[in-house]
Amino acid sequence: PLVTTTEMFKKAYDGGYAIGAFNVNNMEIVQGITEACQEQHAPVVLQVSKGARAYANHTYLVKMVEAAVIECPDIPIALHLDHGPDFETCKSCIDGGFTSVMIDCSSRPFDENVEETKKVVEYAHAHGVVVEAELGTLAGVEDDVKVSAADSSYTHPEEVEEFVTRTGCDSLAIAIGTSHGAYKFTPEQCTRNEQGILVPPPLRFDVLEEVSKRLPGFPIVLHGSSSVPREFVDKINAHGGKMPDAIGIPEEELRHAAQLSVCKINIDSDIRLAITASIREHFDEHPDHFDPRQYLKPARQAVKDMVTHKLINVLGCNGKA
Ligand code: G3H
Ligand code: 13P
Ligand code: ZN
Repeated sequence: PLVTTTEMFKKAYDGGYAIGAFNVNNMEIVQGITEACQEQHAPVVLQVSKGARAYANHTYLVKMVEAAVIECPDIPIALHLDHGPDFETCKSCIDGGFTSVMIDCSSRPFDENVEETKKVVEYAHAHGVVVEAELGTLAGVEDDVKVSAADSSYTHPEEVEEFVTRTGCDSLAIAIGTSHGAYKFTPEQCTRNEQGILVPPPLRFDVLEEVSKRLPGFPIVLHGSSSVPREFVDKINAHGGKMPDAIGIPEEELRHAAQLSVCKINIDSDIRLAITASIREHFDEHPDHFDPRQYLKPARQAVKDMVTHKLINVLGCNGKA
């Protein structure tokens, strides 16, 4: 069924696991994700960005998610707006069938963030919809906003109680060193292990723990949590792509976060990489193919395999539906 995230987050918090929040932009992505979740009995958040609505159209996205709800009768599915930039965008999703919205005013001053978030919460709650808000800024790229590492800042734990109390938000995204996109860290920010492989700087688990202490039982969200698997990047580069120095968040760190207060882990870049690696390889091996089904079928399977791996090995939400 189509649900809000309230119950899935409560169970995830108490059970020491996290729900996967995957960005959807087309039919193959919706199918790949939800087939994996249905097979693994995993609750899931399907999230739609402003860019996704601009690309695929609100109605198409909502109807594809509704189709997935029919095809996957055994699992709870939440339909969530990712990075809602303002009240109007959130309102249009609340009115248009979403069960959850994010209002992201994290780049604005604290009081403005509180005011806009509060306004969204009032409207959302009156319509049975839940709200994710954000404190602290991540580095990286989201929609048209680019934040350099120097301008990013970790969440200040001393602000979280006041923010949650004043806004009434239902979950909180925090900045502890994750970042959007496939290039989360520059090589200069990383160290190299014995094999010469880049190792990113560790996440700030001290900040997460401090936040959790101040907000006991409250669901925390991690954005920018793709792992940028080596196998995808290598396959892309082996088949004509050029993604040097792509690097993500190590899976062990995400597993650890999922056991703590983090209830929702956002993944988009790994979907893009899985699809691109599959299609590049396919075109290299079958230069004669031109029926989109020939390359989109394995691409959809690649999304499904990647999501299955996350559910079982990173999020721990398999068998929880
Ligand atoms: O946070 C960013 C998500 O990956 C969505 O990306 O805005 O390009 O759809 P997008
Ligand atoms: P990634 O770019 O790490 O996949 O993050 C996605 C995200 O946070 C969507 O809101
Ligand atoms: Zn995000």
